[in-house]
Amino acid sequence: MAKRKTKFVCQECGYESAKWMGKCPGCNNWNTFVEEVEITGGRQSHAFQTGKRSVGRPEKITAIKAQKEPRITTKMKEFNRVLGGGIVPGSLVLIGGDPGIGKSTLLLQISSQLADKQLSVLYISGEESTRQTKLRADRLGVTADSLYVLAETNLLDITNQIEAVKPSFVVIDSIQTIFREEISSAPGSVSQVRECTAELMRIAKTNGIPIFIVGHVTKEGAIAGPRLLEHMVDAVLYFEGERHHTYRILRGVKNRFGSTNEMGIFEMKEEGLREVLNPSEIFLEERSQGTSGSTVVASMEGTRPVLVEVQALISPSAFGNPRRMATGVDHNRVSLLMAVLEKRIGLMLQNQDAYIKVAGGVKLDEPAIDLAIAVSIASSFRDQPTKPEDIFIGEVGLTGEIRRVSRIEQRIQEAAKLGFKRVICPQNNLGGWTIPGQIEVIGVDSVQEALQIGVSR
Ligand SMILES: Nc1ncnc2c1ncn2[C@@H]1O[C@H](COP(=O)(O)OP(=O)(O)O)[C@@H](O)[C@H]1O
Ligand SMILES: [Mg+2]
Repeated sequence: MAKRKTKFVCQECGYESAKWMGKCPGCNNWNTFVEEVEITGGRQSHAFQTGKRSVGRPEKITAIKAQKEPRITTKMKEFNRVLGGGIVPGSLVLIGGDPGIGKSTLLLQISSQLADKQLSVLYISGEESTRQTKLRADRLGVTADSLYVLAETNLLDITNQIEAVKPSFVVIDSIQTIFREEISSAPGSVSQVRECTAELMRIAKTNGIPIFIVGHVTKEGAIAGPRLLEHMVDAVLYFEGERHHTYRILRGVKNRFGSTNEMGIFEMKEEGLREVLNPSEIFLEERSQGTSGSTVVASMEGTRPVLVEVQALISPSAFGNPRRMATGVDHNRVSLLMAVLEKRIGLMLQNQDAYIKVAGGVKLDEPAIDLAIAVSIASSFRDQPTKPEDIFIGEVGLTGEIRRVSRIEQRIQEAAKLGFKRVICPQNNLGGWTIPGQIEVIGVDSVQEALQIGVSR
């Protein structure tokens, strides 16, 4: 017999407690505990009760036979790449993102492409009726016959359908709408989300069916229901971008079958998402040349170099407390670079407002973009433009020194490919590789040197 027990669970971080608490010791949020029912005994622990557990024995690693996972590939190269080369059978993948960013669109397109390959696909929508899904499918031009749609939120019915249809690919849109009857708390609560995900994981693994689940992101930026979900699934992908821009970025956050640094870029169109195979060209398309405060950097996004514009606007502050804003780069990194510019170059920035932005809505988080940020700030402050055919790469240290970055050759090749004429990069990176013919490479040791070369008077 299943025994019912209640417990209190923090809805922010999943912290569990036997009694109610005002403040969560896990995440320090107030008033986040909700009483939830836990099922103990019953089906889950059946194997333990009957003692019918299969006993694993240690094996020699050399004796274990492993074949390479066959992968199901979609027509979207960007999507395959983020997953590490395609969809792994039996994997459970979570796609998170803000409402309206295009998660349903992306997964319906993927479903349709797989159905076009004669694979049977089950798209389960807990948020929209089958008619709404059909309207979207018509707009996206979905015609495949083996794509089945089900509007259902009860997990038991869903699992029955999955086991009856035995599809090759399943989409659950979204995990926050799915519930198990035995759990009394509302759909979307920590217990529901966790138990439903665990059950889906079991189905994926036992039947070898890849299941993609959609998860909404809370306003704090975490997938609701939340970090514990990330531990349970095989891969977590975030679909992000600014709602008012047409570009969307699919980024791996966790991946048991591939690298997490990969990102795929898509453009949202009337007829659905279109993949962008040459992101650098797109990111540089709208660049205004010859204005101060703009530089281009070659940043590595996973295995691929991407050229992006870093913009800075420095203007005298009207109030005592200057504003510092950064979009697409770390705020603290910008403060640090401004401090370096003040102390080492003598730029008087303390009474200036500073706005830093990475064009195109991308987020950059590697140190190699430091130099481009610093040069943009100096260029805007002095109101002297950089040369439009220059590119800046390098990490900046606290003494203003320029430090070596990884994969310099790939970055410079990408710059040369897009017609840039000069690269200002760390002196320490020179040597040991061949410089592409059409580009001049200048090594620098300090920010000072980079500014002398890059920001013309
Ligand atoms: N008729 C349309 N033409 C172009 N884009 C549309 C149209 N309808 C919806 N969209 C785009 O699709 C987005 C909604 O996508 P959807 O997949 O439903 O998001 P999510 O599932 O992440 O909430 C909208 O924000 C909009 O950008
Ligand atoms: Mg949706």
